[in-house]
Amino acid sequence: MKKTTILMILFFLIGCSYQLSEKNSTTGLQTTSLADDFEDHFMIGTAISTKQIEEKNQITLRIVKNEFNAITPENVMKWELIHPEPEVFIYEPADKLVSFAEENNIFLVGHTLVWHHMTPDWIFKDDEGDLVSREVLLSRLENHINKVAGRYKGRVDAWDVVNEALNDDGSLRKSNWLKIIGEDYIEIAFKMAEKAAPNAKLYYNDYSLFEPEKRKGAVKLIKDLQSKGVKIDGIGFQGHYGLTWPSISELEKSIKAFSELGIDVFFSELDISVLPRENGENQGADISINIQIEDKLNPYPKELPPFMKEKLAKRYYQIFAVFNKYKDDINRVSLWGVSDADSWLNDWPVKGRTDYPLLFDRNLKDSS
Ligand code: GLA
Repeated sequence: MKKTTILMILFFLIGCSYQLSEKNSTTGLQTTSLADDFEDHFMIGTAISTKQIEEKNQITLRIVKNEFNAITPENVMKWELIHPEPEVFIYEPADKLVSFAEENNIFLVGHTLVWHHMTPDWIFKDDEGDLVSREVLLSRLENHINKVAGRYKGRVDAWDVVNEALNDDGSLRKSNWLKIIGEDYIEIAFKMAEKAAPNAKLYYNDYSLFEPEKRKGAVKLIKDLQSKGVKIDGIGFQGHYGLTWPSISELEKSIKAFSELGIDVFFSELDISVLPRENGENQGADISINIQIEDKLNPYPKELPPFMKEKLAKRYYQIFAVFNKYKDDINRVSLWGVSDADSWLNDWPVKGRTDYPLLFDRNLKDSS
């Protein structure tokens, strides 16, 4: 590593002197980027929003090009957006994104082919509104994967094939996919993805993978796929974390357990919330949770006080220290957005809050 990048991350968050390459032309300071600094460790990625893909924010785009070497679309490749009706495919934003990644030589992760959220209801229903048969759902799934993953064959480097198939206790989530198709929907989806995009890496992605029971469930799921000869190349910890979770030792146990399976291990959606959760127990990322806003749940509506900046910096430092320790096992760390203004955490699990979870602040400065 050329510099102690972890320190720079600390500096980002406490407002010290690390300068973005973005600012070099004005400051004249020579610096390397996050991607350069971590080049011997792992890729450093970010999520890209629809606005950014549409080039409505040039500054953010420049930061993406300068600082990151992997991107994931936050939304535009989710079923609800790219394939909202049976015969309607909206490819334009995804096409732009794919070209952007190619032009800038950035590793592109397609997100996501099979999920229970942001997936239109028509997929599971017939004209009478009843659940369709296994055969019908399989043919809809195959059509979707062929069209979407097939369209970007050779251009999308990796796919999050299945997202969030596990409950927190490690059992399979009773989604419509499971109810209608049965337990083999996961292996079938991976096989379909392999056919449609033969050279792409194929991944499983989930939250709370540091939890012991969920870790066990994920290990079982992957071993099961491997024993059936299904191509699965990696597992993504979403990494939606807070100041008090996950426990570092549980996180390390999960990194080791997944790495022993011989697949890529990566952090796909990292952010660290500084805001209180409605109860101390929700350490997950189930997007269906929706809590009413109250002042006590939104303690920093204008700015983050210095003592909290310091806490956040220390937490980033701690989490990145784990990533560095396991750099031989981890192949990518992607943040879930560029700046605090982009973050889904401003609206989840409570709508309308002000959170500070990312590396760049709302003014796109390198401190929060
Ligand atoms: C989950 C999904 C992401 C995104 C976040 C919220 O983590 O995998 O695609 O929807 O929730 O932004």
